[in-house]
Amino acid sequence: MNSSKNNMKRENFGSKFGAIFATAGSAVGLGNIWRFPIETGQNGGAAFILIYIACILLLGLPLMLSEFVIGRHTQSNATRAYHLLAPGTPWKWVGRLGVFAGFIVLSYYSVVAGWTAKYAVLAIGNQFQGCDPDSLRTTFSAFASDPWEPLLYLLIMLLMTHAVVVIGIQKGIEKCSNILMPILLVIIFVLVICSVTLDGASEGVRFLLKPDWSKIDSHLVISAMGQAFFSLSLGLGCLCTYASYFKKDSNLPNIAIQVITLDTLIALMAGFIIFPATSAAGMPLDSGVMGPELIFVTLPNVFQQALSGLPWLAYSFSVLFFILLIIAALTSAISMHEIVTSYMKEEFHLTRKKAALIETLGCVVIGALCALSFGVLDNVRIFDKSIFDFCDWVVCEFCMPIGAILISIFVGWYLKRKTVENEITNNGTLRVPLFRALIFILRFVAPVAITLIFLDQFHLLS
Ligand code: PHE
Repeated sequence: MNSSKNNMKRENFGSKFGAIFATAGSAVGLGNIWRFPIETGQNGGAAFILIYIACILLLGLPLMLSEFVIGRHTQSNATRAYHLLAPGTPWKWVGRLGVFAGFIVLSYYSVVAGWTAKYAVLAIGNQFQGCDPDSLRTTFSAFASDPWEPLLYLLIMLLMTHAVVVIGIQKGIEKCSNILMPILLVIIFVLVICSVTLDGASEGVRFLLKPDWSKIDSHLVISAMGQAFFSLSLGLGCLCTYASYFKKDSNLPNIAIQVITLDTLIALMAGFIIFPATSAAGMPLDSGVMGPELIFVTLPNVFQQALSGLPWLAYSFSVLFFILLIIAALTSAISMHEIVTSYMKEEFHLTRKKAALIETLGCVVIGALCALSFGVLDNVRIFDKSIFDFCDWVVCEFCMPIGAILISIFVGWYLKRKTVENEITNNGTLRVPLFRALIFILRFVAPVAITLIFLDQFHLLS
């Protein structure tokens, strides 16, 4: 492999916990705390959660392991990894697709991350006190459509992400994850306890625990699969890039299981914050209050209503919640940034600083267009979608499923079975009992199931 020279200089995550926290930091993000509760609310609660967990185990785990195999085996960025494993073939386009998607996803994700930063500032300034849903809605749309403020917050979030990535793998990404992930766990734990002990919380808890089987249909299954991919950062070469920094003796199945467990627990805990608090505030639990506005309009109101007799608790609840969101968004944004930075650095022989700067500047431009699409650029439409929605569509409904289908085919069919087995078992030193089932899923189940999600986007199944 002509990457050996490259590998000598390559950084690694220094510890086992560092690797787990960094990868979990990528997985745990707005997808868990914002998107998961919205999807759960819109799809009937517990039934959605059960199908989601099935998707995580059946598709998420094998695909995560596949990306780990590709990344750690080659110890290269997402594009070179395919080049090394399949020289002279078009497979490197899977890596390129991931790099492109990583760039787009960071651009629009940072817009929402910026909103969470603005809302943390509002929460700290106690600006939600006494606001009714209408005034909260007006505050949100005035902010989102403002030509300057969202750009300022976008810039702040991108600069924070940039700073961590520039510092490097161990001192930047790993250290930051090791500090932020435990804080995130503590905050989320405190919020769950507060929420489920509110008066009137039990209806929300029941919503999350009692499945209504009649809700399960093809749309629900497809939404659950899409959510599982987004939440686990699958299909974009992100996990492949992080795995390229794992040590050669790290236990890939163990890391995958721990990351998936953490990610799923945190998504469930976000549900146990939002639904009990919503029912305690006397608001409906299903699609009535759930939607993209959930976090910026509904929740500040929920916290006020549910804790109306305890203003200091409502205040602390809001502040902690928005800090939680910033942390979750930041650790995910860092991983998106690293997909592109490692590619630019290694493929164009740039310094980390230069590579990161190019990525950040690019994201400032596309991110600004996405941010402005809620205001002055509202009338710009691409395929009938706003710029923000179009970017989200390109990543979640196009690049992610296509990337995931191709990754499963690459590892299931193209790579030699022995190569995959050696990588997963650390050359036979680990016992991996379900290896055959894994290969079966990668060969047959994953490509077919994900193709179904993909076709559903174009309404070809209904
Ligand atoms: N998994 C992240 C979340 O849940 C989003 C993400 C997608 C991160 C793709 C990296 C790559 O918010």
